[in-house]
Amino acid sequence: MNAASARTIADALTAIVGPQACLTSAADTQLFATDYRRLYHGKAVAVVLPSTTEEVSRVMAWCYQHDVPVVPQGGNTSLMGGAVPDDTGKAVIISLSRMNKVLAADTINDTLTLQAGVTLSAARSAAEAAGRLFPLRIGSEGSCQIGGNLATNAGGTAVLRYGNMRDLVLGIEAVLPDGRVMSALRGLRKDNTGFDLKQLFVGSEGTLGIITAAVLKLMPLPRSSSVAFVAVESPEAAVKLLGEAKQAAGQSVSGFELISGPALELVLDYLGGMASPLAQRHDWMVLIELTSGGQQDALEQTMVQLLEAGLEAGLVLDAAVASSVADAQAFWRIREEISDAQTRTGGSIKCDVSVPLSRIAAFIGDATANVLQLEPRTRMVIYGHMGDGNVHFNPLRPKDQSAAEFLGAHYQAISTVVDGLAHAEGGSISAEHGIGVAKRDDLVHYKSSVELELMWQVKRALDPKNLLNPGKLLPAQHHAPSTGSGLHQASDLP
Ligand code: MLT
Ligand code: ZN
Repeated sequence: MNAASARTIADALTAIVGPQACLTSAADTQLFATDYRRLYHGKAVAVVLPSTTEEVSRVMAWCYQHDVPVVPQGGNTSLMGGAVPDDTGKAVIISLSRMNKVLAADTINDTLTLQAGVTLSAARSAAEAAGRLFPLRIGSEGSCQIGGNLATNAGGTAVLRYGNMRDLVLGIEAVLPDGRVMSALRGLRKDNTGFDLKQLFVGSEGTLGIITAAVLKLMPLPRSSSVAFVAVESPEAAVKLLGEAKQAAGQSVSGFELISGPALELVLDYLGGMASPLAQRHDWMVLIELTSGGQQDALEQTMVQLLEAGLEAGLVLDAAVASSVADAQAFWRIREEISDAQTRTGGSIKCDVSVPLSRIAAFIGDATANVLQLEPRTRMVIYGHMGDGNVHFNPLRPKDQSAAEFLGAHYQAISTVVDGLAHAEGGSISAEHGIGVAKRDDLVHYKSSVELELMWQVKRALDPKNLLNPGKLLPAQHHAPSTGSGLHQASDLP
């Protein structure tokens, strides 16, 4: 079939969603076609903002029939270029942001049913209004949306206690590339009726279908919380302290975040006016959060006992325990702003790896030595979700070097060495940020050919024309689609 013209596409999609919800001018579409860190600059023939699943379905069916690629987009907060199109200008972006209704909060079933465009913070607020917790917690919660959280299997700072999005979802409604709707909005904790199809869409990065609604699990709201900012002797000491925390507090350990000295310095410089919770500079710190449904005093006592035992054992060097909600928020703010501080500074190499906890200290030591050998002045911004074995290992340009100079000289070598070391330790090159465009071609080195073959087989089964979020996640050089319109075959993929 001949490619539809921009005018034909605009007219057809406008007829489905209405003129206000179909944007075609470059001024309007550019915002959606560029990622929020402004590293990926794509082009879109149109941006449509449907308000119902039926509209999504009709848009998808039309695009499928006319061989028009489609890029689904939630809050556009991907760190991997996963939610923006390539620069050919052929794709339509479907933004879910108008589908932002919370449909039901069921406090007997402990579930929240909502449309995909609800922001994470709105989902958390809706849960709280119902007297429950929706526990996913990530820095971009004000912008990121539930559909994107699911499509990328988002993680964040509470996975240690509650799991990631894959663990928090019970039901999904998704529109398939040809417009069919898979409606599995069930709120069941047990359902052994065959393949768990909803999980196919979780972590698929919008390559298999567009998630339009979901049923999420709700948890009891914690009644007490204790947060501490703790200097530790080394990453190895942090791992030991985590083990002690789990022994002492069990399920109450809801956050255990590692922060390197350079990460803290970066964020304090960026925030300005905010001081470190600790009197002296330290190479390594952890933010520990305990939460429970029990008494505040008892939880605080557990924290203090844990830290005293850590001091005695030489694991802990110093600690500040939050004495108010404002303190706790300030400690968390330091941790959560590390990402934006890097974006603003520019020139950071964002490796997001996971290794077994037993190997994390060795990994950090080896990877640091390798990076410093390449550029001894690199600022070692290392932080993340230690409780999950997930390190954001983000070497940052020396202060007197430009981002372009540092990335030009070292991006490839540093990413390769860091990912290679994580892989050698039995780890993953993407713990929680996904693959998108940024890591797509690297996958061939880290996944077996059987796994890659299976991924392409699933992709072909659901999207034989390779029209949905083409060029993302699946490495083209492994197995490009053998069927379809000829659009986006291997050589076209970015
Ligand atoms: C975080 O933990 O802060 C997020 O994964 C974002 C990031 O690392 O940039
Ligand atoms: Zn993270």
